[in-house]
Amino acid sequence: MIKIAVIGTGYVGLVTGTGLSDFGNKVVCTDINREKIEILQKGEIPIYEPGLKELIDRNVSSGRLSFSHDIGTAIQNAEVIFIAVWTPMGVNGEADLSAVIEVAKTIGRNLNRYKVICTKSTVPIGTGDKIKEVIKDNLNSDNSDNTFDVVSNPEFMREGSAVKDFLLPNRVVIGTESEKAKSIMKNIYRPLFINETPMVFTNIPTAETIKYASNAFLAVKISFINEIANLCDVTGADVHVVAKGMGLDGRISPKFLHPGPGFGGSCFPKDTSALIHMGEKRGVDFNVVMAALKTNEHQRLHVYKKLLMLMNENVKGKKVAILGLAFKANTDDVRKSAAVYFLEKLLKDGAIVTAFDPIANSNMEKIFPAVGYCNSLNEAVKDTDAVVILTEWHEFRGMDLEKVASLVREKVILDAKNILNPNELKRLGYNFDNVGRPTVK
Ligand SMILES: NC(=O)c1ccc[n+]([C@@H]2O[C@H](COP(=O)([O-])OP(=O)(O)OC[C@H]3O[C@@H](n4cnc5c(N)ncnc54)[C@H](O)[C@@H]3O)[C@@H](O)[C@H]2O)c1
Repeated sequence: MIKIAVIGTGYVGLVTGTGLSDFGNKVVCTDINREKIEILQKGEIPIYEPGLKELIDRNVSSGRLSFSHDIGTAIQNAEVIFIAVWTPMGVNGEADLSAVIEVAKTIGRNLNRYKVICTKSTVPIGTGDKIKEVIKDNLNSDNSDNTFDVVSNPEFMREGSAVKDFLLPNRVVIGTESEKAKSIMKNIYRPLFINETPMVFTNIPTAETIKYASNAFLAVKISFINEIANLCDVTGADVHVVAKGMGLDGRISPKFLHPGPGFGGSCFPKDTSALIHMGEKRGVDFNVVMAALKTNEHQRLHVYKKLLMLMNENVKGKKVAILGLAFKANTDDVRKSAAVYFLEKLLKDGAIVTAFDPIANSNMEKIFPAVGYCNSLNEAVKDTDAVVILTEWHEFRGMDLEKVASLVREKVILDAKNILNPNELKRLGYNFDNVGRPTVK
């Protein structure tokens, strides 16, 4: 049973810590946010992630998982430390590493014997070396003889299916120069070897690069299909059939070919920006990634303009319902979601906005208190002049369009996630739009 401390108990740290305890390791999850740790100690969870509560309960009951705000003691008691703190977008688009550096300092001060320091957070290439340096600089006269190894173990889980992704990953990437650390990491992930999960062992800079390259590639794919969708809008082609036809080619794959209002979330916007910034610092051009980001900004506005068109360019004083606030379905995370963009625009343009998300209302309320948050879809659409769908929740896919028609003031729908049946909308007399499906309007 390997003793692990996870520092940073957010979406990634909490799932990682819980998953590692489920693999048979003894894990303490820690965080600077005391309130978060207290919630977890009470048996509640601070985020929404399907299947996480059950997994936490099981591992807490078995004694393998616990929560503490005493980061120093957690470090001292651990053989392996996972750094899973945030790395938000800083000035000029680069990754802000201040939390990672802070943690490295605390590790240096508390390094009471050999430990493996493993980075889960998404960090720029070269951060592994920086962490080593900071730890060494913070050793003191009592612990300066102690040794440690650094590992890069980037995370690829998707919010909304993070538990499944962690327990059954499509790959695990481990970057280290140390054979001892490699063997400890193999031991931590032992159950995955039994499942024959692909493992990539490499050096630290390569592991760090794999994470950025993967996220940037997916961002490019989304921007690409959004531009194809915009072409479909003006040519009469149906982007869903185009995506299907493209995706049947194994070299392309059908994944991430869903058009919409542009990508959001806590990762793609900041990780693409950080990659561009890394290139700038080293004289490497990232023209493709830059274009993907530019297209994404354009797509947000392009889809917002669709709403303005549907509303005859006049939203001032009109009532608009936003359905879906999270950046994707099955999460309560609203960071850089399409709804953030729409709410900002609509409020600035003088609209009266109601909103409903099955899970994310309270997170959005912290950013936009002036919106009328509702407890149901039907309550949100009542007496509205337009309805906008921005998250692909199943509940919205199956919405009763006849009922909605009886509740709204104007039968206007912008389906920015292409989840409604256009023929049904047409049959019920809606004035509607979507992204790239003109043939069926
Ligand atoms: N969210 C994802 O889907 C995802 C997927 C893969 C990788 N990542 C990467 O994982 C990292 C964490 O992302 P997240 O979404 O879990 O972030 P998050 O904001 O949900 O959680 C970060 C946590 O770190 C804590 N923290 C900040 N500074 C700290 C410090 N000095 N000491 C201890 N705790 C501290 C915060 O209180 C917070 O609870 C980021 O680098 C992100 O890019 C995220």
